[in-house]
Amino acid sequence: MNKLLKYTLLLIGIVGFFSSCQYKFNIEPIIPPPDPTDTIYFSQDILPIWNTDNNCTSCHNSGGTAPDLTTDNAYAAVVPSYVNTTSPNESVIYTAADPNTYTHGWKKYTSSEAAIVLQWIEQGALNN
Ligand code: HEC
Repeated sequence: MNKLLKYTLLLIGIVGFFSSCQYKFNIEPIIPPPDPTDTIYFSQDILPIWNTDNNCTSCHNSGGTAPDLTTDNAYAAVVPSYVNTTSPNESVIYTAADPNTYTHGWKKYTSSEAAIVLQWIEQGALNN
């Protein structure tokens, strides 16, 4: 890896680190990470991540950007198209907004939210 690339990545890392901290302290409700033995419920645990304060649904709604993450439409929009129950950590609904790997430049999950979404997929991405 050449020097310029290294420093560019380092800079992005530093900026990302501080801006994510500030964001967490100021705005995000504190959700604890899930216990690995917890059952994750789509209705109680997953939908609020997407819908609370229009976190994701400000853009991902019916008529908006796919996938439609609004309460009535989210399950059908996300499963099976955006989940991969064979390789849960490759699910687009997880990776697109995962704080470490996110590919879209808008909103991302907190680390707890990402862990909750991943665990839900690992448990079969049920409509529970
Ligand atoms: C400000 C608008 C906006 C918000 C808020 C937003 N997104 Fe997106 N999202 C987009 C747009 C635009 C695209 C399509 C372009 C792209 O894939 O980068 C997209 C694409 C996606 C995709 C599909 C990616 C793919 O490769 O097909 C997923 C999954 C997704 N968003 C999840 C989320 C989640 C989860 C949240 C909330 C944590 C969220 N988005 C919040 C604008 C938004």
